[in-house]
Amino acid sequence: MSEQSVDSESGAPVISLSVVKQNIALTGFMAVGKSTVARQLARRLKRRFVDLDRAIEKSAGLKVKQIFRQKGEAHFRHLEKETLARLLCQQGLVIATGGGVVTDQQNLDLLREKAFLICLTASTEVLLRRAGKGANRPLLRGPDRKARIEELLTQRADKYASAHASIDTTDLTVDQVVEKIIAVLNTES
Ligand code: S3P
Repeated sequence: MSEQSVDSESGAPVISLSVVKQNIALTGFMAVGKSTVARQLARRLKRRFVDLDRAIEKSAGLKVKQIFRQKGEAHFRHLEKETLARLLCQQGLVIATGGGVVTDQQNLDLLREKAFLICLTASTEVLLRRAGKGANRPLLRGPDRKARIEELLTQRADKYASAHASIDTTDLTVDQVVEKIIAVLNTES
């Protein structure tokens, strides 16, 4: 990794003003590691971490899978849009978004305007492995999880490709992804 300047008081990596002012948001497919990476990135940059799904759950008083089950996907997308717009009124956040938020063009436009948007990618095999067997992701239910992932990835490819930057995490550890993001932020500044 190239040499990096750090803030003498906080020890956080120094990122230039144009990026510091904005939010940093992570997009990418379910289970790619957005929340884990965003939490660690926020810690490194001494910024506030927000997970969009957790923020939705907090205001709805229900888990994501309960919202899907009890009220349907359309209602979840409505809450997701509202919560995203509310969060993006703030500055200086590191936001882990849900993998489907960018399927709404207005959400994508707003993210691109109010945040530096980074897409995390990984091979289908790695996504399958990282997703595990858990039932917390309603959109991955079904007999053939691999086919479902491939189907959604195809549908969403152009949306994910609209991020400001993209990082393939297939062979990287969380630490390595965080370092790559910091390097990207520095070159973009
Ligand atoms: C979704 C991704 C989920 C969650 C919801 C829908 C999607 O978040 O928002 O289940 O449409 O890709 P993660 O990407 O954090 O799993």
